[in-house]
Amino acid sequence: SRIYSAGVFGRTPSVPTHADSLERAGLKAMSPPARDYVQTGAGSGSTMDANRAAFDRHRIVPRMLRDVSRREQSISLLGSDFLSPLLTAPIGVAEMAHPDADLAVARGAKAAGVPMIISSQASVPMEQIAAELGDHPRWFQLYWSNQPSVVESFVRRAEAIGAGAIVVTLDTTVLGWRTLDLDRAYLPFARGLGIAQYTSDPAFQDLVEQRVNGGPGKQPDGRPTPAAVRSLLSITKHYPGEFRENLRSPYPRAAVQTFLEVFSRTDLTWDDLATLREMTDLPILVKGVQSVKDARLALEAGVDGIIVSNHGGRQVDGAIASLDALEAIVPVVDGHVPLLFDSGIRCGADVYKALALGASAVCIGRPYVYGLAIAGADGVREVLEHFRAELDLMMATTGVTSIAEIDSSMLA
Ligand code: FNR
Repeated sequence: SRIYSAGVFGRTPSVPTHADSLERAGLKAMSPPARDYVQTGAGSGSTMDANRAAFDRHRIVPRMLRDVSRREQSISLLGSDFLSPLLTAPIGVAEMAHPDADLAVARGAKAAGVPMIISSQASVPMEQIAAELGDHPRWFQLYWSNQPSVVESFVRRAEAIGAGAIVVTLDTTVLGWRTLDLDRAYLPFARGLGIAQYTSDPAFQDLVEQRVNGGPGKQPDGRPTPAAVRSLLSITKHYPGEFRENLRSPYPRAAVQTFLEVFSRTDLTWDDLATLREMTDLPILVKGVQSVKDARLALEAGVDGIIVSNHGGRQVDGAIASLDALEAIVPVVDGHVPLLFDSGIRCGADVYKALALGASAVCIGRPYVYGLAIAGADGVREVLEHFRAELDLMMATTGVTSIAEIDSSMLA
């Protein structure tokens, strides 16, 4: 109704309300490399297509005359109350879409009342994102580095910024065959974008120091060597604006090279989750589960939640639709832990269908990046508000008044 009343005064929304128009406008607002980075899928793109097609195979059966005068979108998740069943998916290198990057995402998500999952690959250190969020809920997404010191440091920092959970992304121990990015030689990472969590991290800075000077960066009395001090200053001073121009100087260059070497652990197994369990009391969710067997292993590993996701079709070409994976996994998890969903959500009806199939909440991915590209923080806010508004109208027009009522009985 806010959009309708604004219309009375001749104002239209600044981001298009239809998913396809939003995508078109968002892509148009980005530079060609940013466009390619955001829209690329793995290989032929068939997983992305499957993600979308799956939603069409499920149809909603609206119910009538059920008193929908009071509708409530709030949910309780891992002990917290959220205003709606939406979170922002962790999206790295947001500076490709807008210079305000994660700070704009934080402002927009906060204004829309949607919790933010902060990415390991953010363009802004998590402490600054948290400052922007204030007391608004945030989780931290972890890419598991092959350097235990970096993993531990990231987890401690996530605890310190009040993250409500750690989300371990399982599906990206290597980057997929992302054709559009490959054609640009993975430009974002080659330019040192999206590594702010690392350059701002003391454990990572030690690794950079070792690489540049071959030493630990500490004097016998524990004080940092002058070179280490220079390294820290260099990395922080040149972040983020001047950083990429300084890739020819030793510290920033070493930071990029070190990042590429330590970013992930390809030998990670289910057993390693126990290490993380011992490290922190925060709830642990695993993101990227598609197989029923892996859902069982995740439960056995004692995770506190599962995010069914195929990374928006960016990792495995020819894979099953994430929504089909959700449908298969729901009976296995059987309400033991919250089951979240992403990959392919483009409108309120998609949110509704994922909830009806058994998701506790969903993560919005690319659509908020389009909003970010079009209008910065306001664009993020509007996209998320549109999701909430559309879901509210979906509830009204299908005869449900709470999220719990959106179950499989509402599907054909
Ligand atoms: C992602 N995704 C992602 N996931 C993650 O765990 N850490 C990350 O840093 C990123 N970065 C990232 C960048 C971009 C540009 C995209 C499009 C995606 C995956 C993301 O969290 C989510 O799983 C997908 O975006 C869901 O797919 P759709 O709905 O956006 O197509």
